[in-house]
Amino acid sequence: MKIGLFDSGIGGLNVLKEFIKKYPNNEYIYYGDTLNVPYGEKDKETLLNLSTNIIHFFEEIKVDLIVIACGTVSSNCYSELKMKTSIPIIDIITPTIFYLKKLNLKSILLFGTKKTVESHIFKNSINNIIEVATTEFVPMIESNKIDIKVIENYLKKYSNINALVLGCTHYPILVKEFKKYLNKNTLIIDMGKVLVDGLNISNNKNYSLTLYFTKIDKVLLKNIENIIKTPYNIKKI
Ligand code: DGL
Repeated sequence: MKIGLFDSGIGGLNVLKEFIKKYPNNEYIYYGDTLNVPYGEKDKETLLNLSTNIIHFFEEIKVDLIVIACGTVSSNCYSELKMKTSIPIIDIITPTIFYLKKLNLKSILLFGTKKTVESHIFKNSINNIIEVATTEFVPMIESNKIDIKVIENYLKKYSNINALVLGCTHYPILVKEFKKYLNKNTLIIDMGKVLVDGLNISNNKNYSLTLYFTKIDKVLLKNIENIIKTPYNIKKI
């Protein structure tokens, strides 16, 4: 199967990693829009334009499946994007909401981008969820300059939660830091893992991975190296 995944930057690589783990024999194409990162504070029209361009790219190279590996685009544009293409397209939030409903927890904290939180996509379906926009996280992750004080400031208020939902695909990179402030029993919910766990697709091609980015620099190359441990080609688009 030829699978195209996209995000504003490196966040979706965390989703891609889960795909490769479960389905190592597929052809993967990743599109990271680093020229326009962060997506988390852009208006809906801009998000739709940017993601429509990416969908057209995937249509040109004829992928079999498109994965919106971005919480912001999933929460704001999924229904519109579904109507724009005949290629099967899946988002990252629908399976997460489904999973949370089954868990039926007493108190859930969601960290997401401003646009994801403002959409209230989680609150509209889940009880007992506190949605918090953590706007500093994506720039911190993309620049590889993690400020632990910023993380502490968000988490110190919520020591008693049952689960923390990583509502942005960049956030799995901060899990080690999050754990310093969380109770041992707090579940950490990674949307990429939830999506791939619940998926049943074919695994019948030779492995290949091509990463396309709209802007490439040294920090990006290092960030990719830290996440993706299987061979890949990288190209500027
Ligand atoms: N990783 C994306 C998300 O899941 C985009 C974050 C951003 O660019 O602000 O929301």
